[in-house]
Order: sequence, then structure tokens, then C-alpha cells
Amino acid sequence: MKHLFRQGKSGKPVFLLLHGTGGTEEDLLPIAEMIDREASILSVRGQISEQGMPRFFKRLREGVFDEEDLVYRTKELFEFLGWAAKEYDFDRNNMIAVGYSNGANIAGSLLFHYEDVFKGAVLFHPMVPMRSLTLPNMTQLPIFIGAGTNDPICKPEETNELKVLLEEAGADVYMHWESYGHRLTESEVSEAKKWYTSKY
Ligand code: MLT
Repeated sequence: MKHLFRQGKSGKPVFLLLHGTGGTEEDLLPIAEMIDREASILSVRGQISEQGMPRFFKRLREGVFDEEDLVYRTKELFEFLGWAAKEYDFDRNNMIAVGYSNGANIAGSLLFHYEDVFKGAVLFHPMVPMRSLTLPNMTQLPIFIGAGTNDPICKPEETNELKVLLEEAGADVYMHWESYGHRLTESEVSEAKKWYTSKY
């Protein structure tokens, strides 16, 4: 998978950066810098091209996922994380996902499929990745969700549904609401930083 890795300060978490539709592995670098400039970074480019726009899995139309592809791509990314930990010699158990939109959705799918896949997650404008799964145990897993009261893609009802599903699995979910639609704003990132500093 096309990606970049940057070694941070020893002992600091590794941020797994997952961009939105049409993005690249460079997109979330300033966001990671704002949250913790000393963290290591593993940033991945989505394998799918939708009319030239990179994504992490196929969709049938906006908001409707190709579940077969989602399951396949989730496994592919999961295996890549194991490979990357060996290749770059980092602690696989010290990884925090930071995803926006389509990237938040594949991060959510990893959480839905694999126990202990991350030690935390920052999900900006996520949706419910799948509805047919029994979720793994997520007891005390810190998760930040940034959402928009008027987000036309990730509707508030769906964000709340995701929060409930994660909490039922035991996760410690913190929600932050803004009203700038689907945009990832600087104030949302500042809130994520405050949350991160209080947790790690
Ligand atoms: C998705 O397909 O993951 C969501 O609709 C968000 C997006 O537009 O990428």
C-alpha cells in the first residue's frame, strides 16, 4: 500500500492517518502535527480509485458502502499494519487511528472487526461502517468523534447510532459537535488535541 512513515519521539504513539475521499497520505499531516508533533506517523493512501479519487473501499453510491469490498479492504489494511510495525520497528499496540470521512469509516470498520486493533481513535465525521456485526470488546477504549449537526453526509442520527454501538462494546466515547457541515475545522482538531492530551 502506498504510504509514508515518520519516526517520532521514542515511546510516543504511532498515528495511523487515513484521509477522506479524493485525498492522499499527505492530507492529514498538519492535523497530526496539531494533535501531537512528537508522535510517529504511518499515513496510508486508499487503494481504491473512484474516478481518480483515492478511497479506502468501494461504495455503491454516496453513503451506501460495498460491504464485500469493505470487509476485504479492512482485512488488507489490518494485515498491512502488522507488516508496517515490523518494517519500521514500532510497537503495534501503541497505535492511534486518526481518520476523516472515508478514512474515519475504514478506521471504524477496523474497530468493528478486530479486537485491540488500536489503543485509541480520532474519528472526524464518521458513519456506521456496517450494521451486521457483533462488535469485539472495546472496554475503556478512548474514542473521539468529531461531528457536524448539519453534516449532509454523516447525519447526526447516524453519528449518534455509531456512538451507541461503540459504547455498547465498552468504548469510552467523547463527542464533539460543530455546525460546519462535513468540513474538518481547526476548532474540531483543537478539541481532539485537548481530548488526546487528557487521555495519553
Ligand atoms: C464514504 O463513502 O466513506 C462516506 O460517504 C464519506 C465520503 O464521502 O467519503
